[in-house]
Amino acid sequence: MNELETRVGERRTFAIISHPDAGKTTLTEKLLLYGGAIHVAGQVAARRARRSATSDWMELERERGISITSTVLQFPYRGHTINLLDTPGHQDFGEDTYRTLMAADSAVMLIDAARGVEPQTKKLFAICRERGIPLFTFINKMDRPSRDPLELLDELESVLGIAAFPMNWPLGNGERFRGVYDRTTHEVHVFERTAHGATRAAVQMAGLGDPGLRELVDDVSYREFIDGIELLEGAGARFDRDAFASGAATPVFFGSAATNFGVQLFLDRFLELAPPPGPRAFRDGVPVPPESPQFSGFVFKIQANMDPRHRDRVAFLRVCSGEFARDMVVRNGRSGKEVRLARAMRLFADERESLETAYAGDVVGLANPGVFAIGDAVFVGSELTFAPIPAFAPEHFASVRSIDSAGYKSFAKGIAQLREEGAVQVFYPYGSMRSEPILGAVGELQFEVAKYRLEAEYNVRTHFSRLPHDTIRRVEGELVGATPLQLGSGSMLLEDWEGRPVLLAEREWSLRLIEEWNPKHRLVPFTTRLQQEATA
Ligand code: G4P
Repeated sequence: MNELETRVGERRTFAIISHPDAGKTTLTEKLLLYGGAIHVAGQVAARRARRSATSDWMELERERGISITSTVLQFPYRGHTINLLDTPGHQDFGEDTYRTLMAADSAVMLIDAARGVEPQTKKLFAICRERGIPLFTFINKMDRPSRDPLELLDELESVLGIAAFPMNWPLGNGERFRGVYDRTTHEVHVFERTAHGATRAAVQMAGLGDPGLRELVDDVSYREFIDGIELLEGAGARFDRDAFASGAATPVFFGSAATNFGVQLFLDRFLELAPPPGPRAFRDGVPVPPESPQFSGFVFKIQANMDPRHRDRVAFLRVCSGEFARDMVVRNGRSGKEVRLARAMRLFADERESLETAYAGDVVGLANPGVFAIGDAVFVGSELTFAPIPAFAPEHFASVRSIDSAGYKSFAKGIAQLREEGAVQVFYPYGSMRSEPILGAVGELQFEVAKYRLEAEYNVRTHFSRLPHDTIRRVEGELVGATPLQLGSGSMLLEDWEGRPVLLAEREWSLRLIEEWNPKHRLVPFTTRLQQEATA
């Protein structure tokens, strides 16, 4: 194996998806604790709190006391380099969260054991399914009164339509959650709680027949534990690696991130099962392996204002092949221009370090003086292409105008910049590109960020009027004349910035009526399918 093959083979790049409050911040931190990147838990949360108190990073974050932005956490663990792509933890997540999943090779779906599958779990799951990436499931908060584990597995299958394969089985639940049975080694991991879960939980191994186990929990819980295992083992199902690799089946782990139960077991199995980076770039339609010496990557995110004193923008580049070296000269496939990558950085939480080398699976932060846009292909040598980053269907819409009429130029420039960065999507009433834009967002917070940035960076005060629509479709078919479609009240015909028509509706059912009235047109889902899938 050459050096590049070794480096690529070591890498595991993933993201955690969850509904807010399921414990993503907590699990992230515990993975860092068990991965040896931090020694005492409580630091990440503390750093976030400190940042929200004193940072000059993004004032909106400070005002709202939330984390809007995402970063990358890299740490070595047992001969591997783990890249955890951290996504914003806030309720009003936006397209950034979706796009970050484009850069991951696998994902961990975190579920609250008392709540099961929640709305944002479903949305994020849909993106993983679309990409067909391998998905792990961690059922968290088992130290609190939880739903029946079998019922939770059923829910994964019935609501998400993914086959759920428990890798371990919980002993007790709530206050009496004491451990998990590992179905691979047939051992029971019995945990001791530590104060606030700040350090690793002491663990003892026991066999299933160990009489001590009975003492740990009440009789009913013990019976349920044994019955559960008998049921699973009796069913004789095996973990299907192929189904996992294609995203059709998920290995399920029970645990509690707060008390550290099951975190190590999860991390170890994760390393065994998670895929290393696969091919992402194409040369004349042919996949380029990640071990190829030709350097390539794509931009999946632009973060503006990481440091408002410099008004900088950082482009997040996922390396896809070859070796990144500081100062290398690359070509941007979109603009055709050559760019020297002089200011490259590692993005660890909100700290930045300059970065010398990186390999497929790693994420490099590039100081971006307007050179890069989301989806850009970056490479050395012959032209390479990537699957396009899909446009995600916005669910929130607002029309926006500049309050100061003199500032129209800056306003237009700001809107164009926000669109290019993917901070919001921009539409116009059909056939009138110069009128007031209508912004679309996956999460409402994107509007606040847009408003804030238009004022802070472009010096334009704006008025946003929220629209009642929540459904968008592309329109296929010929559109001529002033009112080319017969629309019901409440629907609007718009065009995107490339002039392609889209329809906004207030209710999904109204789409059916519009289709009936316009038999020569088709309304198609807004989300573009991924090229990877089309090629496969
Ligand atoms: P998020 O990033 O997904 O939004 O969730 P976060 O980790 O912030 O966790 C949300 C709440 O759930 C926190 O409580 C956290 O302590 C708690 N939590 C996370 N994992 C577990 C677990 O395994 N067991 C239990 N019992 N609780 C868990 P909080 O009250 O909001 O904050 P804090 O005061 O505990 O820090």
